[in-house]
Formats: sequence, structure tokens, C-alpha cells
Amino acid sequence: MRLADFGFSKGINEIIAVTVGKKLNTAPIGIIVEDENSIFAMAKLYPSETKENVKVSGKLWANVVLDPIVFTISAFEDLSDEYFIPGKPALKNAMAYCEFDVKLDNSKAHLRLVSGEVLDCRIRAVNRGFNVLIEALVHATRYKIVRGETKRKLREMILYYKEIVDKCGSEREKEAFDLLLKYVGL
Ligand SMILES: Cc1cc2nc3c(=O)[nH]c(=O)nc-3n(C[C@H](O)[C@H](O)[C@H](O)COP(=O)(O)O)c2cc1C
Repeated sequence: MRLADFGFSKGINEIIAVTVGKKLNTAPIGIIVEDENSIFAMAKLYPSETKENVKVSGKLWANVVLDPIVFTISAFEDLSDEYFIPGKPALKNAMAYCEFDVKLDNSKAHLRLVSGEVLDCRIRAVNRGFNVLIEALVHATRYKIVRGETKRKLREMILYYKEIVDKCGSEREKEAFDLLLKYVGL
């Protein structure tokens, strides 16, 4: 078993992290991989519910997902039960999910792959709308907490990405982008 078996490659892999503490939490997190043929990875965890849950449980389930709505909802709130495979920390439209043991060292989380399952091997071409939605979400989670010139610049970038989603995205990317705009009040 190795990280590559579940779709991870060298670099930063954006997944939906499911964690459990006082309550179940979902959030997009970047899993940093040096060697995809190993079982070791890292993440940087800034103060969040995800981090609080990991402190309590020492576990993180990474869901490898290409669904724009799932990314958007989980960036701002938690996914409801209907998104989950009953009884599993896995999302219904995940292509794979895997369990990591986590050791926290301040903002660094050291991850060790424990188990995993591939759920869906469907192929999919690159969609620029999906790619820029992810970029816009990264900016949008910052947009909510900054002020002034930084906020103005982020707004500009988010609205630029909307043009690309309008041109290249499917209905689901467009729906997700509208949700993003609602979450941040744009
Ligand atoms: C694509 C993407 C990647 C992200 N990667 C990280 C990350 O690696 N570490 C982190 O702390 N936050 C990351 N974030 C931000 C968190 O998802 C965001 O702060 C979220 O609101 C945390 O939710 P929580 O408080 O429910 O855990 C990322 C956001 C997006 C959209």
C-alpha cells in the first residue's frame, strides 16, 4: 500500500478532510507529498475545527473528490449526512478515501497512511472551470478574514475566475461558484 494507490502524487494534493472530535467536520486541506510511493505525508493545519478534531482523535480521512459543490460547501461549512456513505468517513462521490494517523507538531501535521479504498475509477478530462473554482475557493476562505487592499485584490481575482467558470465550467461548477459568491457575500 502506498499513497499513489489512492491518487496522491508528489506536490500538494487537495482533498476533503473528514475528522471527528466533538462533532464530525469536513474541510478542504492540502496534503503535501514528497514521495508518493511511501505512506508518509504532511499537512499544514491553521487554527480550525479540523485541527481541533485532530488534536482529540489523531485521525484524518482524506477523500479524493472532483465534485465542485462538495469542495465549495466544505470550505465554508460541514457536509450533511446525505453526502456520506452510511457508516463510513467516506463521501458518496469520492474516487478514493484513506485513513491517516496524525501527529501534530504546532501547525505541521505528520501523516501516516493506515488504510484506504478506491471507490471510482471513471476518467475525466481537465476542466478549467473546476481548476479555477478551487483557486477561487482558496482566495474566498481568505477573503472572509482580511480587510482593505488585500480584500480588494482577492475580490478582483475571484471575479476574474468567475469569467473562466462561466466560459469553461459545467452547470455544477457554475452552481458551485454561485454558492461561493453567496458564502462570501459577493
Ligand atoms: C483548496 C483548499 C485547500 C485548503 N488547504 C488548507 C490547508 O492545507 N490547511 C488549512 O489549515 N486550511 C486549508 N484550507 C482552508 C480550510 O479549508 C478552511 O479554513 C476551512 O474553513 C476550515 O474549516 P474547519 O474550521 O471546519 O476545519 C484550504 C481551503 C481550500 C479551498
